[in-house]
Amino acid sequence: MATPILDKESLIPGKTSKLVLHAPEIAAKARPGHFIILRTHDKGERIPLTIADADPERGTIIIVYLVLGKSTAVLEGMAAGDEISDVCGPLGRPTHIEKGGTVICVGGGTGIAAMHHIAKGHVRVGNRVVGAIGARSKNLLLFEKELTSFADEILISTDDGSYGRKGLVTELLREKLEQDGSVFEVVAVGPVPMMEAVAQTTRPFGVRTTVSLNPIMVDGIGMCGACRVSVGGQTKFACVDGPEFDGHLVDFDELKRRLAAYRAQEQISFELYGKAQQ
Ligand code: FAD
Ligand code: NAD
Ligand code: FES
Repeated sequence: MATPILDKESLIPGKTSKLVLHAPEIAAKARPGHFIILRTHDKGERIPLTIADADPERGTIIIVYLVLGKSTAVLEGMAAGDEISDVCGPLGRPTHIEKGGTVICVGGGTGIAAMHHIAKGHVRVGNRVVGAIGARSKNLLLFEKELTSFADEILISTDDGSYGRKGLVTELLREKLEQDGSVFEVVAVGPVPMMEAVAQTTRPFGVRTTVSLNPIMVDGIGMCGACRVSVGGQTKFACVDGPEFDGHLVDFDELKRRLAAYRAQEQISFELYGKAQQ
């Protein structure tokens, strides 16, 4: 269904934007962890994006994307008032959220926006939420203000030390786990190597670890097999069985291999799109 863009905010110029979409039916059902699949126009590729927030009263959802290749570049070329050709959702299983004490919600780069919705869900059931967020540099750090407005504690890292602690977000996570024995769950959203590192960090502490996987997807409803992942030796489809899984059981090497399968074609497509824009 054609979906109007009500508002667009550039968070990192040319790289990351936040869109407010008018999608009342999706907003009414969206829960933390859900995602949508959109096509910018009728010949566009179907791309999955996490619902970073939803307002059922206004009938709106928020998505935040990183410009990586052709489809996200086309999206970045759109403006408030434009219509996205189709938006399908909410898809996937919502995050399993239960009351248990302290939960550390880890977000890396663009993943911080998606993690923010999950963190809100944990606050809603009365959990103590520690947000651990990391970016390469201060100007790439997203959603700090939003998280600070509801989280009980915020830990910040930048790879270059321009803001917060210098280093990777997993270093903050390790320290927090060493200090606080009350943590019952760690949730991580961000680049695949970060989610893998989070799972490695939590393993010795025996803390439940949930990661939000982002394999290539096509239909998003369990029919095509594109999003196949291996979890605990079993084949799962991230679109219908996930996208969240036990990080200690995910085969990250396979996920990385499958994500890279079409890299050459994606690069050509991005370059041709760039030339057509000149
Ligand atoms: P492409 O040309 O398709 O790819 C560029 C690069 O990204 C390549 O290196 C390729 O290996 C990698 N890539 C391709 N497709 C995917 C994919 N589906 N997931 C991850 N990497 C991919 N991104 C966001 O910025 N914000 C989100 O909220 C978000 N949520 C997601 C939720 C789910 C459930 C999934 C599966 C993915 C999510 N992603 C999110 C990733 C997003 O879908 C991809 O970045 C997007 O499809 C890339 O499309 P493209 O044509 O611009 O780039
Ligand atoms: P990035 O590469 O700039 O990394 C952000 C931060 O993650 C780093 O500052 C660091 O603290 C941490 N990190 C990265 N690699 C690490 C490693 N090997 N070990 C420990 N920590 C590490 O992030 P970006 O360029 O914004 O990329 C965001 C990624 O998140 C994209 O690949 C996007 O597809 C994905 N994403 C996924 C979802 C989802 O639902 N799974 C949602 C949004 C974005
Ligand atoms: Fe087709 Fe999951 S995207 S089965």
